[in-house]
Amino acid sequence: MCSCSAGLLRGGSFAIAGPATGLRHGGGLRRRRLQGSDRTSFAASMSSSVAGGPDQEASRHYIGGFLARRSYEPPAWASQLSPVPSFVYNLGHFPTPIHKWNLPDLPEGTEVWIKRDDLSGMQLSGNKVRKLEFLLADAVAQGADCIVTVGGIQSNHCRATAVAARYLNLDSYLILRTAKRLVDDDPGLTGNLLVERLVGAHVDLISREEYAAIGSVVLADLLKERLVNEGRKPYIIPVGGSNSLGTWGYIEAIREIEQQVQKGQGDVDFDDIVVACGSGGTIAGLSLGSWLSKLKAKVHAFSVCDSPDYFYDYVQGLIDGLQAGLSSRDLVDIRDAKGLGYAMSTTDELKFVKRVAEATGVVLDPVYSGKAVYRMLKDMAENPAAWRGRRVLFVHTGGLLGLYDKVEEVAPLLGNWRRMAVGEAVPRRDGAGKMF
Ligand SMILES: Cc1ncc(COP(=O)(O)O)c(C=O)c1O
Repeated sequence: MCSCSAGLLRGGSFAIAGPATGLRHGGGLRRRRLQGSDRTSFAASMSSSVAGGPDQEASRHYIGGFLARRSYEPPAWASQLSPVPSFVYNLGHFPTPIHKWNLPDLPEGTEVWIKRDDLSGMQLSGNKVRKLEFLLADAVAQGADCIVTVGGIQSNHCRATAVAARYLNLDSYLILRTAKRLVDDDPGLTGNLLVERLVGAHVDLISREEYAAIGSVVLADLLKERLVNEGRKPYIIPVGGSNSLGTWGYIEAIREIEQQVQKGQGDVDFDDIVVACGSGGTIAGLSLGSWLSKLKAKVHAFSVCDSPDYFYDYVQGLIDGLQAGLSSRDLVDIRDAKGLGYAMSTTDELKFVKRVAEATGVVLDPVYSGKAVYRMLKDMAENPAAWRGRRVLFVHTGGLLGLYDKVEEVAPLLGNWRRMAVGEAVPRRDGAGKMF
Protein backbone atom coordinates (compact mmCIF):
# COMPACT_ATOMS: atom_id res chain seq x y z
CA MET A 1 0.00 0.00 0.00
CA CYS A 2 1.52 3.33 -0.96
CA SER A 3 1.66 6.42 1.19
CA CYS A 4 -1.21 7.94 -0.77
CA SER A 5 -3.85 5.72 0.74
CA ALA A 6 -2.14 3.88 3.59
CA GLY A 7 -4.73 3.12 6.22
CA LEU A 8 -7.69 4.41 4.27
CA LEU A 9 -10.94 4.08 6.10
CA ARG A 10 -13.85 2.79 4.16
CA GLY A 11 -16.69 3.29 6.56
CA GLY A 12 -15.39 5.07 9.64
CA SER A 13 -18.08 7.05 11.33
CA PHE A 14 -20.05 7.66 8.17
CA ALA A 15 -23.73 7.32 8.28
CA ILE A 16 -23.94 5.66 4.95
CA ALA A 17 -21.31 3.01 5.31
CA GLY A 18 -23.03 1.04 8.05
CA PRO A 19 -25.23 -1.97 7.43
CA ALA A 20 -28.60 -0.95 6.09
CA THR A 21 -31.77 -2.95 6.11
CA GLY A 22 -34.11 -0.56 4.33
CA LEU A 23 -34.24 2.03 1.65
CA ARG A 24 -35.17 5.62 1.24
CA HIS A 25 -37.35 5.51 -1.78
CA GLY A 26 -39.41 7.66 -4.16
CA GLY A 27 -39.85 10.66 -1.90
CA GLY A 28 -41.06 8.64 1.07
CA LEU A 29 -39.03 6.72 3.61
CA ARG A 30 -39.37 3.02 4.03
CA ARG A 31 -38.72 1.78 7.55
CA ARG A 32 -35.19 0.64 8.17
CA ARG A 33 -33.18 -0.40 11.17
CA LEU A 34 -30.27 1.90 11.64
CA GLN A 35 -27.14 1.24 13.62
CA GLY A 36 -24.49 3.32 15.32
CA SER A 37 -23.67 6.63 13.72
CA ASP A 38 -26.02 5.77 10.87
CA ARG A 39 -28.85 6.19 13.36
CA THR A 40 -27.60 9.56 14.59
CA SER A 41 -27.19 10.96 11.14
CA PHE A 42 -30.47 9.73 9.82
CA ALA A 43 -32.37 11.06 12.83
CA ALA A 44 -30.69 14.44 12.45
CA SER A 45 -31.53 14.56 8.76
CA MET A 46 -35.13 13.69 9.45
CA SER A 47 -35.59 16.27 12.18
CA SER A 48 -34.07 18.98 10.02
CA SER A 49 -36.48 18.32 7.18
CA VAL A 50 -39.52 19.50 9.11
CA ALA A 51 -41.05 22.89 8.34
CA GLY A 52 -38.72 25.74 9.21
CA GLY A 53 -35.63 23.44 9.14
CA PRO A 54 -32.35 24.26 7.45
CA ASP A 55 -33.70 23.83 3.92
CA GLN A 56 -36.18 26.66 4.29
CA GLU A 57 -33.64 28.60 6.29
CA ALA A 58 -31.13 28.22 3.46
CA SER A 59 -33.43 29.73 0.86
CA ARG A 60 -33.37 32.95 2.86
CA HIS A 61 -29.57 33.16 2.71
CA TYR A 62 -28.57 32.07 -0.77
CA ILE A 63 -29.54 33.26 -4.20
CA GLY A 64 -29.62 30.73 -7.02
CA GLY A 65 -29.07 27.77 -4.73
CA PHE A 66 -25.28 28.02 -4.29
CA LEU A 67 -24.30 26.74 -0.81
CA ALA A 68 -27.90 25.75 -0.14
CA ARG A 69 -28.85 22.34 1.14
CA ARG A 70 -31.55 20.37 -0.62
CA SER A 71 -33.28 17.03 -0.25
CA TYR A 72 -31.65 14.38 -2.37
CA GLU A 73 -33.41 12.11 -4.81
CA PRO A 74 -31.23 9.58 -6.61
CA PRO A 75 -31.59 8.90 -10.33
CA ALA A 76 -34.25 6.24 -10.94
CA TRP A 77 -31.56 3.80 -12.09
CA ALA A 78 -29.75 4.14 -8.74
CA SER A 79 -32.77 3.94 -6.47
CA GLN A 80 -32.05 0.34 -5.51
CA LEU A 81 -28.77 1.36 -3.89
CA SER A 82 -28.88 1.62 -0.13
CA PRO A 83 -28.58 3.68 1.91
CA VAL A 84 -29.50 6.75 -0.10
CA PRO A 85 -28.36 10.11 1.33
CA SER A 86 -31.16 12.36 2.51
CA PHE A 87 -29.51 15.70 1.79
CA VAL A 88 -26.88 17.29 -0.37
CA TYR A 89 -25.26 20.74 -0.52
CA ASN A 90 -24.77 22.75 -3.71
CA LEU A 91 -21.06 23.51 -3.51
CA GLY A 92 -19.81 23.18 -7.09
CA HIS A 93 -20.53 24.84 -10.40
CA PHE A 94 -22.34 22.10 -12.25
CA PRO A 95 -22.76 20.86 -14.92
CA THR A 96 -19.09 21.11 -15.82
CA PRO A 97 -18.44 21.53 -19.56
CA ILE A 98 -17.73 18.67 -21.96
CA HIS A 99 -15.84 19.40 -25.16
CA LYS A 100 -13.88 17.62 -27.83
CA TRP A 101 -10.18 17.42 -27.04
CA ASN A 102 -7.71 17.24 -29.89
CA LEU A 103 -4.84 15.69 -27.99
CA PRO A 104 -1.52 15.44 -29.81
CA ASP A 105 -0.65 11.98 -31.16
CA LEU A 106 -4.13 10.50 -30.96
CA PRO A 107 -4.26 7.34 -33.05
CA GLU A 108 -6.43 7.54 -36.12
CA GLY A 109 -10.02 6.56 -35.54
CA THR A 110 -10.04 7.39 -31.82
CA GLU A 111 -11.93 10.42 -30.54
CA VAL A 112 -11.27 11.96 -27.13
CA TRP A 113 -13.57 14.36 -25.31
CA ILE A 114 -12.94 15.95 -21.93
CA LYS A 115 -15.25 16.62 -19.00
CA ARG A 116 -13.90 19.66 -17.19
CA ASP A 117 -14.38 18.83 -13.53
CA ASP A 118 -11.32 21.02 -13.04
CA LEU A 119 -13.82 23.83 -13.65
CA SER A 120 -16.18 22.81 -10.85
CA GLY A 121 -15.02 25.91 -8.98
CA MET A 122 -11.93 27.93 -8.22
CA GLN A 123 -11.00 27.49 -4.55
CA LEU A 124 -13.25 24.46 -4.51
CA SER A 125 -12.20 22.97 -7.83
CA GLY A 126 -11.85 19.39 -9.00
CA ASN A 127 -13.44 16.09 -8.20
CA LYS A 128 -13.53 16.46 -4.41
CA VAL A 129 -16.36 18.97 -4.59
CA ARG A 130 -18.82 16.33 -5.75
CA LYS A 131 -18.03 14.09 -2.79
CA LEU A 132 -18.06 16.95 -0.30
CA GLU A 133 -21.57 17.94 -1.33
CA PHE A 134 -22.78 14.71 0.29
CA LEU A 135 -20.20 14.37 3.06
CA LEU A 136 -20.73 17.83 4.46
CA ALA A 137 -24.51 17.45 4.36
CA ASP A 138 -24.02 14.42 6.61
CA ALA A 139 -21.59 16.32 8.87
CA VAL A 140 -24.12 19.12 9.34
CA ALA A 141 -26.95 16.62 9.89
CA GLN A 142 -24.85 15.03 12.65
CA GLY A 143 -24.41 18.41 14.33
CA ALA A 144 -20.67 18.66 13.67
CA ASP A 145 -18.90 21.94 14.28
CA CYS A 146 -15.60 20.97 12.66
CA ILE A 147 -14.16 18.56 10.11
CA VAL A 148 -11.09 16.35 10.49
CA THR A 149 -9.47 14.96 7.38
CA VAL A 150 -6.17 13.57 6.17
CA GLY A 151 -3.95 13.78 3.09
CA GLY A 152 -0.56 14.48 1.56
CA ILE A 153 1.09 17.86 2.02
CA GLN A 154 -0.39 19.07 -1.31
CA SER A 155 -3.71 17.28 -0.88
CA ASN A 156 -6.38 18.75 -3.14
CA HIS A 157 -8.94 16.97 -1.03
CA CYS A 158 -7.79 18.70 2.16
CA ARG A 159 -7.83 22.10 0.46
CA ALA A 160 -11.31 21.54 -0.95
CA THR A 161 -12.52 20.31 2.44
CA ALA A 162 -11.09 23.34 4.23
CA VAL A 163 -12.80 25.73 1.80
CA ALA A 164 -16.14 23.92 1.76
CA ALA A 165 -16.14 23.62 5.55
CA ARG A 166 -15.50 27.35 5.91
CA TYR A 167 -18.33 28.13 3.47
CA LEU A 168 -20.61 26.19 5.81
CA ASN A 169 -19.20 27.80 8.95
CA LEU A 170 -17.34 24.69 10.08
CA ASP A 171 -13.70 24.67 11.22
CA SER A 172 -11.31 22.26 9.57
CA TYR A 173 -8.44 20.24 11.00
CA LEU A 174 -6.07 18.80 8.40
CA ILE A 175 -3.53 16.08 9.10
CA LEU A 176 -0.93 16.50 6.35
CA ARG A 177 1.78 13.98 5.53
CA THR A 178 5.22 15.32 4.71
CA ALA A 179 8.90 14.38 4.63
CA LYS A 180 10.55 13.60 7.97
CA ARG A 181 13.05 16.41 7.56
CA LEU A 182 10.22 18.95 7.11
CA VAL A 183 7.77 17.81 9.76
CA ASP A 184 8.91 20.30 12.41
CA ASP A 185 9.05 23.30 10.08
CA ASP A 186 6.44 25.76 8.91
CA PRO A 187 4.92 23.98 5.88
CA GLY A 188 4.97 27.14 3.77
CA LEU A 189 2.37 28.58 1.44
CA THR A 190 2.86 26.72 -1.81
CA GLY A 191 -0.20 25.69 -3.84
CA ASN A 192 -2.97 24.11 -1.78
CA LEU A 193 -1.34 25.16 1.50
CA LEU A 194 -1.83 28.83 0.71
CA VAL A 195 -5.58 28.40 0.29
CA GLU A 196 -5.90 26.13 3.32
CA ARG A 197 -4.11 28.58 5.55
CA LEU A 198 -5.97 31.59 4.18
CA VAL A 199 -9.32 30.02 5.07
CA GLY A 200 -8.03 29.29 8.57
CA ALA A 201 -7.59 25.51 8.46
CA HIS A 202 -5.65 24.02 11.38
CA VAL A 203 -2.71 22.05 10.06
CA ASP A 204 -1.14 19.08 11.89
CA LEU A 205 1.98 17.73 10.20
CA ILE A 206 2.93 14.08 10.35
CA SER A 207 5.97 12.38 8.85
CA ARG A 208 5.55 9.77 6.12
CA GLU A 209 7.10 7.20 8.44
CA GLU A 210 4.66 7.96 11.29
CA TYR A 211 1.79 7.95 8.82
CA ALA A 212 2.79 4.55 7.44
CA ALA A 213 3.17 3.12 10.94
CA ILE A 214 -0.06 4.51 12.41
CA GLY A 215 -2.38 4.90 9.40
CA SER A 216 -4.90 7.60 8.56
CA VAL A 217 -7.78 6.02 10.50
CA VAL A 218 -6.02 6.04 13.85
CA LEU A 219 -4.50 9.46 13.24
CA ALA A 220 -7.91 10.95 12.48
CA ASP A 221 -9.44 9.22 15.52
CA LEU A 222 -6.66 10.56 17.71
CA LEU A 223 -7.27 14.13 16.61
CA LYS A 224 -11.02 13.63 16.92
CA GLU A 225 -10.59 12.44 20.50
CA ARG A 226 -8.53 15.52 21.36
CA LEU A 227 -11.14 17.80 19.84
CA VAL A 228 -13.98 16.04 21.67
CA ASN A 229 -12.07 16.55 24.93
CA GLU A 230 -11.97 20.25 24.09
CA GLY A 231 -15.74 20.27 23.72
CA ARG A 232 -15.80 20.20 19.91
CA LYS A 233 -18.03 18.07 17.67
CA PRO A 234 -15.73 16.76 14.96
CA TYR A 235 -16.75 14.81 11.88
CA ILE A 236 -14.12 12.69 10.15
CA ILE A 237 -13.85 12.59 6.37
CA PRO A 238 -11.54 9.81 5.15
CA VAL A 239 -8.60 10.25 2.78
CA GLY A 240 -9.84 11.60 -0.55
CA GLY A 241 -13.45 11.68 0.70
CA SER A 242 -13.65 8.10 -0.53
CA ASN A 243 -16.28 6.22 1.40
CA SER A 244 -19.67 4.94 0.28
CA LEU A 245 -21.35 8.26 0.98
CA GLY A 246 -18.78 10.20 -1.08
CA THR A 247 -19.33 7.71 -3.91
CA TRP A 248 -22.72 9.35 -4.55
CA GLY A 249 -20.85 12.40 -5.88
CA TYR A 250 -19.76 10.53 -8.98
CA ILE A 251 -22.98 8.57 -9.31
CA GLU A 252 -24.50 12.04 -9.67
CA ALA A 253 -21.80 12.99 -12.20
CA ILE A 254 -23.06 10.14 -14.40
CA ARG A 255 -26.58 11.54 -14.21
CA GLU A 256 -25.08 14.90 -15.26
CA ILE A 257 -23.23 13.35 -18.22
CA GLU A 258 -26.37 11.51 -19.29
CA GLN A 259 -28.30 14.77 -19.29
CA GLN A 260 -25.55 16.60 -21.18
CA VAL A 261 -25.39 13.90 -23.81
CA GLN A 262 -29.16 14.06 -24.26
CA LYS A 263 -29.21 17.85 -24.48
CA GLY A 264 -26.25 18.03 -26.86
CA GLN A 265 -26.60 18.61 -30.57
CA GLY A 266 -25.85 15.53 -32.61
CA ASP A 267 -25.68 12.19 -30.96
CA VAL A 268 -22.61 12.11 -28.77
CA ASP A 269 -22.38 8.79 -27.02
CA PHE A 270 -19.32 7.67 -25.12
CA ASP A 271 -17.83 4.19 -25.32
CA ASP A 272 -15.25 4.75 -22.60
CA ILE A 273 -14.65 6.97 -19.59
CA VAL A 274 -11.05 7.47 -18.48
CA VAL A 275 -9.98 9.02 -15.17
CA ALA A 276 -7.15 9.11 -12.63
CA CYS A 277 -7.50 7.12 -9.42
CA GLY A 278 -5.95 8.09 -6.09
CA SER A 279 -8.24 6.94 -3.31
CA GLY A 280 -10.94 5.13 -5.28
CA GLY A 281 -14.15 7.10 -4.68
CA THR A 282 -14.30 8.73 -8.09
CA ILE A 283 -13.99 5.49 -10.02
CA ALA A 284 -16.45 3.75 -7.68
CA GLY A 285 -19.14 6.33 -8.46
CA LEU A 286 -18.39 6.63 -12.16
CA SER A 287 -18.24 2.91 -12.80
CA LEU A 288 -21.31 2.05 -10.73
CA GLY A 289 -23.28 4.90 -12.30
CA SER A 290 -22.21 4.08 -15.82
CA TRP A 291 -23.14 0.42 -15.32
CA LEU A 292 -26.56 1.14 -13.81
CA SER A 293 -27.53 4.00 -16.11
CA LYS A 294 -28.11 3.93 -19.86
CA LEU A 295 -24.63 5.34 -20.45
CA LYS A 296 -22.91 1.92 -20.24
CA ALA A 297 -19.50 3.41 -21.03
CA LYS A 298 -16.57 1.26 -19.89
CA VAL A 299 -14.65 3.01 -17.11
CA HIS A 300 -10.83 2.86 -17.23
CA ALA A 301 -8.94 4.04 -14.17
CA PHE A 302 -5.26 4.92 -14.05
CA SER A 303 -3.93 4.52 -10.53
CA VAL A 304 -1.33 7.05 -9.42
CA CYS A 305 -0.42 5.32 -6.16
CA ASP A 306 -1.57 1.84 -5.15
CA SER A 307 -1.81 -1.33 -7.24
CA PRO A 308 -4.83 -2.20 -9.38
CA ASP A 309 -5.57 -5.16 -7.04
CA TYR A 310 -5.66 -2.85 -4.06
CA PHE A 311 -8.18 -0.61 -5.82
CA TYR A 312 -10.37 -3.47 -7.07
CA ASP A 313 -10.73 -4.49 -3.41
CA TYR A 314 -11.23 -0.97 -2.19
CA VAL A 315 -13.87 -0.13 -4.79
CA GLN A 316 -15.58 -3.43 -3.96
CA GLY A 317 -15.90 -2.24 -0.36
CA LEU A 318 -17.37 1.08 -1.47
CA ILE A 319 -20.02 -0.45 -3.72
CA ASP A 320 -20.79 -3.20 -1.19
CA GLY A 321 -21.47 -0.34 1.23
CA LEU A 322 -24.27 0.66 -1.18
CA GLN A 323 -25.54 -2.90 -1.55
CA ALA A 324 -24.90 -2.78 -5.28
CA GLY A 325 -24.49 -6.55 -5.58
CA LEU A 326 -21.89 -6.10 -8.33
CA SER A 327 -18.24 -6.96 -8.76
CA SER A 328 -15.72 -4.12 -9.11
CA ARG A 329 -13.81 -6.22 -11.65
CA ASP A 330 -16.86 -6.19 -13.94
CA LEU A 331 -17.39 -2.47 -13.53
CA VAL A 332 -13.98 -0.94 -14.02
CA ASP A 333 -10.64 -1.61 -15.68
CA ILE A 334 -7.82 -0.39 -13.40
CA ARG A 335 -4.25 0.11 -14.60
CA ASP A 336 -1.05 1.28 -13.04
CA ALA A 337 0.08 4.82 -13.90
CA LYS A 338 2.18 5.72 -10.90
CA GLY A 339 5.54 5.76 -12.70
CA LEU A 340 8.23 6.93 -10.25
CA GLY A 341 5.74 7.00 -7.38
CA TYR A 342 2.94 9.06 -5.90
CA ALA A 343 3.40 12.78 -6.66
CA MET A 344 6.77 12.10 -8.33
CA SER A 345 7.12 13.02 -12.00
CA THR A 346 9.58 12.06 -14.69
CA THR A 347 10.82 14.81 -17.00
CA ASP A 348 8.95 13.06 -19.77
CA GLU A 349 5.65 13.33 -17.87
CA LEU A 350 6.22 17.02 -17.16
CA LYS A 351 7.12 17.67 -20.80
CA PHE A 352 3.90 15.92 -21.71
CA VAL A 353 1.86 18.20 -19.43
CA LYS A 354 3.44 21.20 -21.14
CA ARG A 355 2.84 19.75 -24.60
CA VAL A 356 -0.85 19.16 -23.91
CA ALA A 357 -1.24 22.65 -22.46
CA GLU A 358 0.47 24.17 -25.50
CA ALA A 359 -1.52 22.12 -27.99
CA THR A 360 -4.98 22.32 -26.41
CA GLY A 361 -5.01 25.02 -23.70
CA VAL A 362 -5.93 22.42 -21.07
CA VAL A 363 -3.53 22.36 -18.11
CA LEU A 364 -3.27 18.94 -16.49
CA ASP A 365 -1.98 18.49 -12.97
CA PRO A 366 1.11 16.28 -12.96
CA VAL A 367 0.05 14.15 -9.97
CA TYR A 368 -3.30 12.81 -11.24
CA SER A 369 -4.71 13.69 -14.65
CA GLY A 370 -1.26 14.33 -16.14
CA LYS A 371 -0.18 10.78 -15.38
CA ALA A 372 -3.52 9.30 -16.41
CA VAL A 373 -3.55 10.96 -19.84
CA TYR A 374 0.13 10.18 -20.35
CA ARG A 375 -0.56 6.47 -19.76
CA MET A 376 -3.78 6.52 -21.75
CA LEU A 377 -1.98 7.85 -24.83
CA LYS A 378 0.84 5.35 -24.32
CA ASP A 379 -1.72 2.56 -24.26
CA MET A 380 -3.46 3.97 -27.33
CA ALA A 381 -0.11 4.03 -29.16
CA GLU A 382 0.74 0.47 -28.11
CA ASN A 383 -2.73 -1.00 -28.71
CA PRO A 384 -4.38 1.18 -31.36
CA ALA A 385 -6.78 -1.59 -32.36
CA ALA A 386 -8.28 -1.67 -28.85
CA TRP A 387 -9.16 2.04 -29.08
CA ARG A 388 -10.03 2.31 -32.79
CA GLY A 389 -13.56 3.56 -33.40
CA ARG A 390 -14.00 4.45 -29.72
CA ARG A 391 -15.29 7.75 -28.41
CA VAL A 392 -13.56 8.38 -25.10
CA LEU A 393 -14.53 10.81 -22.34
CA PHE A 394 -11.62 11.81 -20.13
CA VAL A 395 -12.67 13.29 -16.77
CA HIS A 396 -10.24 16.04 -15.73
CA THR A 397 -10.36 15.92 -11.93
CA GLY A 398 -8.55 19.21 -11.28
CA GLY A 399 -5.58 19.65 -8.96
CA LEU A 400 -4.09 22.69 -10.66
CA LEU A 401 -2.86 24.20 -7.38
CA GLY A 402 -0.58 21.18 -6.93
CA LEU A 403 1.32 22.34 -10.01
CA TYR A 404 2.86 25.13 -7.94
CA ASP A 405 4.74 22.47 -5.99
CA LYS A 406 6.45 21.46 -9.23
CA VAL A 407 7.60 24.90 -10.27
CA GLU A 408 11.29 24.12 -9.91
CA GLU A 409 10.98 20.97 -12.02
CA VAL A 410 8.83 22.64 -14.65
CA ALA A 411 10.86 25.86 -14.94
CA PRO A 412 13.66 24.42 -17.15
CA LEU A 413 10.99 23.31 -19.66
CA LEU A 414 9.60 26.81 -20.11
CA GLY A 415 11.67 29.23 -22.15
CA ASN A 416 9.15 31.46 -23.88
CA TRP A 417 9.98 34.92 -22.58
CA ARG A 418 12.15 37.82 -23.64
CA ARG A 419 12.66 41.46 -22.79
CA MET A 420 10.50 43.55 -25.10
CA ALA A 421 12.56 45.53 -27.56
CA VAL A 422 11.24 49.13 -27.82
CA GLY A 423 14.34 51.12 -28.70
CA GLU A 424 14.65 54.75 -27.69
CA ALA A 425 12.52 56.44 -30.33
CA VAL A 426 9.00 55.20 -29.49
CA PRO A 427 7.06 58.23 -28.18
CA ARG A 428 3.99 57.99 -25.93
CA ARG A 429 0.82 58.91 -27.88
CA ASP A 430 -1.89 59.44 -25.27
CA GLY A 431 -3.08 58.80 -21.73
CA ALA A 432 -1.21 59.42 -18.53
CA GLY A 433 -2.45 56.79 -16.01
CA LYS A 434 0.00 54.08 -14.98
CA MET A 435 -2.30 51.35 -16.30
CA PHE A 436 -2.59 52.84 -19.77
C1 LIG B 1 -6.85 16.29 -8.61
C2 LIG B 1 -7.23 14.89 -8.26
N1 LIG B 1 -7.58 14.05 -9.24
C3 LIG B 1 -7.92 12.78 -8.99
C4 LIG B 1 -7.90 12.28 -7.70
C5 LIG B 1 -8.30 10.87 -7.49
O1 LIG B 1 -9.62 10.75 -7.09
P1 LIG B 1 -10.01 9.64 -6.05
O2 LIG B 1 -9.30 10.01 -4.77
O3 LIG B 1 -11.46 9.71 -5.91
O4 LIG B 1 -9.53 8.35 -6.57
C6 LIG B 1 -7.55 13.14 -6.63
C7 LIG B 1 -7.48 12.68 -5.23
O5 LIG B 1 -7.02 11.65 -4.87
C8 LIG B 1 -7.20 14.48 -6.92
O6 LIG B 1 -6.86 15.33 -5.96
